[in-house]
Amino acid sequence: MSNISNKERESIHGLWSSRLTFILAVTGSAIGLGNIWKFPYVAGANGGGAFVLVYLICILVIGFPIMVSEILIGRKGRRNPITSMHLLGKEETGSQYWKVVGFIGLFAGFLILSYYSVIAGWTLHYFILSLTGGFTELDTDQANLLFSELTSSISTQAIFHTLFMVITIMIIARGIKNGLEKAVKFMMPALLFIMVILLIYSITQGDFARGVDFLLKPDFSKITAASILAAMGQAFFSLSLGMGCIVMYGAYLPKNESIVKTSLTIIFCDTLIALLAGLVIFPIVFDNNLAPTDGPGLIFLTLPLAFSDITGGMLFGSLFFILLGFAAITSAISLLEPSVAWMIETQNIKRSTSAIIIGSVIWLLGFLTILSFNDLSDFTFWKGTLFDNFDYLASNILLPISGLLFTIFASWFMTKSSSRSELSDVSPTTYVIWRFLARVVAPIGVIIIFLNAINIL
Ligand code: TRP
Repeated sequence: MSNISNKERESIHGLWSSRLTFILAVTGSAIGLGNIWKFPYVAGANGGGAFVLVYLICILVIGFPIMVSEILIGRKGRRNPITSMHLLGKEETGSQYWKVVGFIGLFAGFLILSYYSVIAGWTLHYFILSLTGGFTELDTDQANLLFSELTSSISTQAIFHTLFMVITIMIIARGIKNGLEKAVKFMMPALLFIMVILLIYSITQGDFARGVDFLLKPDFSKITAASILAAMGQAFFSLSLGMGCIVMYGAYLPKNESIVKTSLTIIFCDTLIALLAGLVIFPIVFDNNLAPTDGPGLIFLTLPLAFSDITGGMLFGSLFFILLGFAAITSAISLLEPSVAWMIETQNIKRSTSAIIIGSVIWLLGFLTILSFNDLSDFTFWKGTLFDNFDYLASNILLPISGLLFTIFASWFMTKSSSRSELSDVSPTTYVIWRFLARVVAPIGVIIIFLNAINIL
C-alpha cells in the first residue's frame, strides 16, 4: 500500500480506459431495476405526480452534490470506500473514524444486492417465459397467475437468483477492464431502443392520457412525510449513492476527467430512463384495470400484457427482459465491487476468491427475500416482510445517512484546496454552487426529511 503522505495515489486495480467507459459504467450502475422495476411501483404507491416532483427535486439538490462528493473522494483516495475514507479522513482531519461511513455503505450494499439478485432472477425467468411463448393472448388474470406462480415457487426463484449471482461473481472476478467495461458497452443503447418501442405501444394502445396525468400531474395533497422519505430513498437508490459504489468507480477515474460534467450526464440519463419507464408502465396499468399500487410485481404484471398484444411481442418481450437482466448485472457488479476491492486491498486475498466469498454470503442472504414472497410472507414486522424491511432499511435509512456523511466530509472536512484540485476544470461559480449544495442544502434536506419522518421510521 502506498505511503499515506503521498497524495497522488494510484489504484491497484487499474483505471477506466476512457471517460466514456467511466460514464457507461456509472450509468450502468445507476440504471437498473431501480429505474424500471422500482421507480414505477414506488411512485405508484406514493401518489404518482407529487412523488415524482419531490423525487426530481431530491435528485437535483441532494443527489447531484453527493454524486460529485463521492467521485471526488474516490478519485482522491484511489481505494475501496472504507480505505479511501480511512486515508483521507486521517489526511484531512487527523481522525481515523471516517472509515465507519464506508462500513455503513458496504453493509447497505450487502442488503441491497441480496434482494436485487432475486428480483433480477425474476427478469431472467420472464425472459424464458417470453421466449417460450408464455405471453401469448394473456389477460390480466393470467398475468397475475404467471407472477404468483413465480413468487410462490422457492425453487424457481432460487435457480434464477443463483444464476444471477454466479454471473455477477464471474464478471467481478475478471476485474475492471475485462469484466466491467465489456459488459456495459452495448447494453445501455439496446435497452433504450426497446424502451422507445414500448413507449410507442403505450402511447398508441394504452391509456396514455391517464398514465401521464398520474405520473406528471402533482396532487399536493398526496405529499406526506412518508412519500417524501420514499422519494429521497428512491433518489439515492437510483443514482447508486450512499453505499460507496460511486466512490469505488471514482477510484478508477483518470485524473484529467471532469467530475461535474460526468455527474450531470449520468444523472440526466438515469432520470430519463426512470421517467420513460413510468410513461411506459402506467398507461398499461390503467388500460388493463390494474392498480398503480400493485407493488413489486407491477412491471411483471403490466409488461407481459403489452408484449402479448404487440406484433413481434415474443421477440420484444424476450429482448426486454434479457436487457433488463443485463442492466441489473451492471448494477449488481457495482454493488459487489466495493466489498471485493476492500477484501483484496486489506486482507490480501485474490480477486476471484474474494468475489466468491462475499458473493456467497450475499447469495445466502438472498434466500430470506425469496422466502418473503411465500413461506415467510406472513412473517411481518416494522415495514412488512423481510424483503420490505431490507429495502426500507437500506434505501431509506442507511443510504441517506452514509451519503450525507460522504458529502459532509467532502465539503466541510476536506480542505478547499483538496476538493478544488479534483474539480479544477469547472468555473469558480460552479465550484461555489457545488460546495453550497454539498455543505448546506443537501445536509439540511436529508436531515429535515428524516426529522419529518421520525415518527414513521
Ligand atoms: N442504482 C441501481 C438501480 O437503479 C442499483 C444500485 C447499484 C444501487 N448500486 C447501488 C443502489 C448502490 C444503491 C446503492 O437499479
